[in-house]
Amino acid sequence: MVQSGSVHTIQWVDGHVVILDQTRLPLETVYSALYTTDDLIQAIQAMQIRGAPVLGVAGAMGVALAGLSIASEEPAGFAAQLRPLAMAIADARPTAVNLSWGVHELLSRLAAQRCKTVEQQRQFLVAEAQCMLQEDVAANRRLGAFGAPLLPNDGIVLTHCNAGALATAGYGTALGVIRSAVESGKNIRVYADETRPLLQGARLTAWELVADGIPTTLLTDSMAGYFLHKGVIACVVVGADRIAANGDVANKVGTYSVAVLAKENGVPFYVAAPVSTIDLCLPNGDVIPIEEREPDEVTTIGGTRVAAVGVQVANPAFDITPARYVTAIITDAGLVYPPYEQNLPKVVRSPQ
Ligand code: MRU
Repeated sequence: MVQSGSVHTIQWVDGHVVILDQTRLPLETVYSALYTTDDLIQAIQAMQIRGAPVLGVAGAMGVALAGLSIASEEPAGFAAQLRPLAMAIADARPTAVNLSWGVHELLSRLAAQRCKTVEQQRQFLVAEAQCMLQEDVAANRRLGAFGAPLLPNDGIVLTHCNAGALATAGYGTALGVIRSAVESGKNIRVYADETRPLLQGARLTAWELVADGIPTTLLTDSMAGYFLHKGVIACVVVGADRIAANGDVANKVGTYSVAVLAKENGVPFYVAAPVSTIDLCLPNGDVIPIEEREPDEVTTIGGTRVAAVGVQVANPAFDITPARYVTAIITDAGLVYPPYEQNLPKVVRSPQ
């Protein structure tokens, strides 16, 4: 059995990016090489690489790829060509703010560097993108340690989608909290929503947790309410794609239903996300852009058509959980409790 900690979601190898193709899991472990920013954008849009924190790293590595692709040795010309390539990467998917954060973070680190030559700039971009990968793993480990005490010593934790090692450069956010709790000796069992339509829970979360020996039970999404009502679930922990200034949370579609059901049944609902997921520029969840994806993700399962031909389809990939349902936000800078308008700015160094 593969240990999920031993897989690399994304790596920089000899001047290009290598990703673990998440559309092929859990049946096959296939790595894909990405040589250009177009390759990277396609992989992001096809969700071969997905999950907010690793999209931040992908954004940074995309800027490094862009730097290598520009022939100009003249700094002004280099900068003028770098920017549109970087912005195209930032726009590849709209909801997870980490993607554009990763792009802008690396550009601003470059600007602060004042490299004399274009070649120095290229080398800086490549080295710094790899640092950002390491920083993401470290952030997830910190976040996990902050969140672990919130979990029961012995009990069941419900999660939705995949906020694990695969959604990050390593260790995971929601699953990082669970891993950290298990490492501290707690007896945690996980209920994982399958997460329609793309089954990130069934394919990815189940794969990761089974590989790590964490007892995991797979539920269809509509079963979560049944188990929350029965009182068998101690708490819910999910990840986030963007957290607005008032604490509203965008995450995989279906998260909102789980949050409402958790509150109705008196079960704590925790959101685990690095500070790079907090977007203080947006006042609330109503203005978070929600990605609408292709209808065939809903009408087919594993390439086989399951819906009646001719039916219309809605496919928002994310939903918004209002802050009033969120018991606490677990970040790499500590736990944040309501009122979020007051407390989120304390963990965000500077608005992005
Ligand atoms: O469409 P996806 O698979 O990229 O959506 C991922 C999620 O919604 C995750 O829960 C979120 O990005 C947090 S990952 C740590």
